[in-house]
Amino acid sequence: MPGICPPWLSLLLTCGLRHRGQDPFRIVGPFVQEGATVADVGCGPGFFTGPMAHLAGETGRVIAVDVQQGMLNRARNAARRVGMAERIDFRHATDTDLKLDEGLDFVLAFAVLHEMRDAKGALEQITAALRPGGRLLLAEPTFHVHKPKFTETVRLAESTGLYWVDIVDIRMSHAAVLRRD
Ligand SMILES: C[S@@+](CC[C@H](N)C(=O)[O-])C[C@H]1O[C@@H](n2cnc3c(N)ncnc32)[C@H](O)[C@@H]1O
Repeated sequence: MPGICPPWLSLLLTCGLRHRGQDPFRIVGPFVQEGATVADVGCGPGFFTGPMAHLAGETGRVIAVDVQQGMLNRARNAARRVGMAERIDFRHATDTDLKLDEGLDFVLAFAVLHEMRDAKGALEQITAALRPGGRLLLAEPTFHVHKPKFTETVRLAESTGLYWVDIVDIRMSHAAVLRRD
């Protein structure tokens, strides 16, 4: 799929170097409480999905969506290896439907918005899926997305009914936390 990170680049997204610079437990830990229902939008090979399932615990649930079946297969295999697959609902998204449920406590959209053909449509779906008070962590790689473009994406998220609450320090990323009223 043009403009979209192909599954064969998964090694880059899951390598040890990334674990050191972008520790997934440190990044999503503050947002995923035990028993929470959360979503990993554009989960790719599952770098954050397994840790989210671990943090959500036995009573929590993770919805992992991606537009590429090859990425979902990799994410499922990675989750199996760490015994987390049972807690994760893997869903094949389309360009127009993220296949999210409503009432989510938290959504992660990490390094994905810039790949989407319809970022506004995706943000509208994310906002509708969050429960009141639910949060979105929106992060984009500084390598691909310059600051003005990221600011534009945050504005787009705000236009769908979220409000900006915080910035987060994540290596090689622009990152913002937004909350639904
Ligand atoms: C650069 S990867 C990042 C993966 C993961 N979030 C991470 O940080 O490791 C972007 C992912 O977003 C997915 N993606 C792109 N457009 C999408 C869309 N419209 N809906 C769902 N997933 C999408 C791609 O297939 C790819 O797996």
